[in-house]
Amino acid sequence: MKKFFVIGNPISHSLSPELHNFWIKKNKINAVYDKIKLEESELKDFINKLRNEEIHGINVTVPFKNKVIKYLDKLSLEVETTDSVNTIYKSGNDIIGHNTDVAGFELGLRHSKINVLHKSILILGAGGVVPSIIYSLLSMGCKKIFLSNRTIEKAENIKKKFDEVEVLEWKKIPDFDIVINATSVGLKGESLDLDLNTKDKVFYDVIYNPKETQFLKKARENGNRIENGKFMFIYQANQSFSIWNNIIPKIDDEVLKILG
Ligand code: ATR
Repeated sequence: MKKFFVIGNPISHSLSPELHNFWIKKNKINAVYDKIKLEESELKDFINKLRNEEIHGINVTVPFKNKVIKYLDKLSLEVETTDSVNTIYKSGNDIIGHNTDVAGFELGLRHSKINVLHKSILILGAGGVVPSIIYSLLSMGCKKIFLSNRTIEKAENIKKKFDEVEVLEWKKIPDFDIVINATSVGLKGESLDLDLNTKDKVFYDVIYNPKETQFLKKARENGNRIENGKFMFIYQANQSFSIWNNIIPKIDDEVLKILG
């Protein structure tokens, strides 16, 4: 039986096992997917289990997306550019790190028919997922990316990787078509202290639980289109699954129900 894991710390909140085990069953694969909380000191040994094929694939979440890199043999271009790994697998004798958050973000937007071509995008926040979102937006041909974070140094660090990005002071709001909340504000019902009085724009929140953050609720009430990060999450999982099992699993109503 093949074994897959998602590793992180904390990890109890992760819905990846529900999603992957659903697809494993649907596709009649002899495998199981579990979550495991690790300490940083355990990463090397855990990844080595892939080498001897005790396990067959690893998803990586906060806070290890960058920390696993030094234990891997080869990295995809997405990882080289974003310094972030969410999917690990073995190919030949090599342990490979890939980042399906990039494709997950793109496929999620396409699924929701949000077109970023020639659009100006404002990203709020500079946490671990932001480089993946920027990579994705640039590859889809957006016109302009503004990046704004409460702690400006973190945004400036991201600019070192993506020179095209324009860093703005926190609370300075430019003219934009799409705004993306990539901060953690909203996870517990809090509201971002920002005045975004616009209408007919697209408001996207990476958070999908709760389904509608205060950021999205206000935006909807002001007459904007809103979208949460549910499809990004589903598609990053879908892409990991297809790398490990050579099957692109179906995203249907049953799958959507798993995430509530
Ligand atoms: P990750 O775990 O994904 O790497 P993180 O590093 O915890 O995420 O980042 C969370 C993001 O939410 C950061 O951009 C953080 O801003 P700071 O860099 O200034 O800390 C942002 N964030 C968290 N609480 C916030 C708040 N009350 N107001 C504005 N931004 C906030």
